[in-house]
This record gives sequence, structure tokens and C-alpha cells, in this order.
Amino acid sequence: MKIWTVANQKGGVGKTTTVVSLAGSLAKQGKRVLMVDTDPHASLGYYLGIDSEQVPGSLYDLFMQHQSLTRQRVMAHIVPTRISEIDLLPATMALATLDRTLVHKEGMGLILKKLLAFVEAEYDVVLIDCPPVLGVLMVNSLAASQHIIVPVQTEFLAIKGLDRMVKTMLMMGRSKKINYSYTIVPTMFDKRTKASPAALTQLSQDYANRLWPDVIPVDTKFRDASLAHLPITHFAGFTRGGKAYDRLLDYLLTKEFAHAKLS
Ligand SMILES: Nc1ncnc2c1ncn2[C@@H]1O[C@H](COP(=O)(O)OP(=O)(O)O)[C@@H](O)[C@H]1O
Ligand SMILES: [Mg+2]
Repeated sequence: MKIWTVANQKGGVGKTTTVVSLAGSLAKQGKRVLMVDTDPHASLGYYLGIDSEQVPGSLYDLFMQHQSLTRQRVMAHIVPTRISEIDLLPATMALATLDRTLVHKEGMGLILKKLLAFVEAEYDVVLIDCPPVLGVLMVNSLAASQHIIVPVQTEFLAIKGLDRMVKTMLMMGRSKKINYSYTIVPTMFDKRTKASPAALTQLSQDYANRLWPDVIPVDTKFRDASLAHLPITHFAGFTRGGKAYDRLLDYLLTKEFAHAKLS
């Protein structure tokens, strides 16, 4: 089971869209996917038409029961989506209080990793959606993942935010003696503007070996797909945006393969 986190400390850069679209691309290949929402705003659930206040339980409850987790207990908190290959471990507002309750306790950064180990046999890929905040949830997400996907909007302000995210990963990696592997994904690329190609040039100068050598184009179909509560891949047959996420998935799968051979 592969575990990937989609993170960036900037909001509105396409994190949730990336989680849903990659899940859609994986589902089309027949892969079983678990999406984990660690954002207290629960936008991943809302995207899929699942009301986080109506679900039987959430990631929050599992964090609170972390000393008595079982496979059955974890599975009881996972809900199906309209796509049979894709399940969701939902978020609730209560997640926002975890920083206060957990931050000073030993081993609190490894709860998500521990609970995902219980569903190892159920899924091919886990995709974790992060809030734009460096807190106990992002720490848990990074610690649980084999690879991190960092979407960056192709405009200058967003690149500033990226520097912060990369510093965070370096800092956390150092304290845990892990060299996080990550891929930067340029999003909302609009070749008709000046800002998008200029931002891409800047990215390739600053992060040459970490940059996905392709882009997710700006595509109004993403908004239409989210209104229909479907991944773009399941909303419309051919879209430029959906095809781009298919290509990103191929890249990530081969990258993971190469990675696995090394270790
Ligand atoms: N490639 C894209 N083209 C057009 N709109 C996009 C694209 N990616 C995301 N969006 C839209 O931008 C908004 C923010 O995206 P979202 O994935 O929620 O960002 P984040 O999770 O980082 O806050 C949403 O309304 C989404 O539909
Ligand atoms: Mg989001």
C-alpha cells in the first residue's frame, strides 16, 4: 500500500483537487483508494457530497482512541463514496482542537501511520489531504507517507509559499532523520498569461530535480466536476485537466517503483 500526502501551507493551490483527481485516475485503473481528510474544514468530504457532521465517526475519534485501535475500529470510521473504488476517512471540525490536546505528548506524530497500518490489505493507495497549517495533523501526514505531492499555483506569491513548505519538510526530515521525497506539481497553469510561464521558469530554476516536468492546466471543468461531487476523471470523458492528472499519476507510479528498487 502506497501512502502519499498532498500538502502545501498555502490555501487554494489545488491540494483537494489533486487528491480527488488522482483518486479518480487510480480508480479508473481499478486501484482501491482511501482518501484521508485531515483538514478540519472537511472540504474533501464536501467535494464528494459527504456532510462531515453526518458521518458515523471521523479521523478525530480515531486520534482520541489511538491507544486502543483495531482494524475493525478503523474500518468502522471509513465511508464509501459514489465511486466504488474510492473510500473516505472523513474529517470534522473537532480536528482543529487536536493541536491543543496532543501537541506535548510523546509519540503523537505517529498516530496516523499506526492507524493506516490496520488497512494495509484493503487499499492500493492512500491519499492524504492536508490543511494549509503546520500542526500535529501535517506532522502526522508527513510521517505516515512514502512520498509528498506539493501542488503549487503557477504565480509568484504561491512560489513564496512553496519555499516555506520545503523548509518545513527539511526541518521535519532532519528531526526525524528522514529525507522526504517530494514532487512539486505546477497547477492552474494558464499559458495565455505572463505569470504562469514566468512562474514555471522560476520553479525549474529553483527546484529542477523535484519538479514534475509537466503542468496541470487551468480548466473550468474542475469547478463543474466539484459541483457534481465527482472527480474530473469521472465527470467528463476527455478533459485537459483530467488527462494531466492521468499523466501525473503515471509519473508518480514509476517514481515510486524506482524508489522501491533503491531501498
Ligand atoms: N487546474 C485548475 N483549474 C481551474 N480551477 C482549479 C484547478 N485546480 C483547482 N481549481 C479550483 O480552485 C479552487 C481551490 O482548489 P482546492 O483544490 O480546493 O485548493 P486547496 O485544497 O489547496 O485549498 C477550487 O475552487 C478548485 O475547483
Ligand atoms: Mg483543500
